Amino acid sequence: MATPTHSQGNTTAATGAPGARSPQAGLVATALTASLLLSGSPWAVAAGPVDTLLDQWRSQGTREFSAERGSALWSRHTAARSCTSCHTPDPRAAGKHPQTGKPIAPLAPSANPKRLTDTREINKWLLRNCKWTLGRECSAQEKGDLLTWLRAQ
Ligand code: HEC
Repeated sequence: MATPTHSQGNTTAATGAPGARSPQAGLVATALTASLLLSGSPWAVAAGPVDTLLDQWRSQGTREFSAERGSALWSRHTAARSCTSCHTPDPRAAGKHPQTGKPIAPLAPSANPKRLTDTREINKWLLRNCKWTLGRECSAQEKGDLLTWLRAQ
């Protein structure tokens, strides 16, 4: 960061850098927000398949998807099981199957770009993992909430 020089005394300090900096930061934030809204995801690689699925589930009459609900469901325990049993609380971390001990690569696209890139793979594992974890299939709403949260990790 440049340190303002006071060549013209107090007047410059009042009307110079500090005043100019924040509108610029505001513009950058606005541009970022706009591009996130347009692309639907900060992870370009995940935008296609995840958006396809979210659209499918939306067409089944869900309400707005919520990353907050997705995150809560991720760590909700049912009969001593949760998504974290295998994937750990942090989806950026590598997990481990509690029964077989088999390593599971991180689920977060930021840590593992191969994740959430294939709709069949996502559907297959959500079906299997929801059944194992919750004892039933996840609803369209729950799957949308989970992916909305997970894609941003
Ligand atoms: C019993 C262990 C286990 C539990 C519990 C579990 N998973 Fe998984 N999950 C796996 C394994 C194993 C894979 C596939 C192996 C791999 O791809 O590394 C996987 C893969 C996935 C994938 C596929 C991602 C991709 O694109 O490759 C998603 C999404 C996923 N899990 C979400 C969840 C969610 C959400 C929950 C909680 C409802 C959950 N998992 C609970 C073991 C588990």
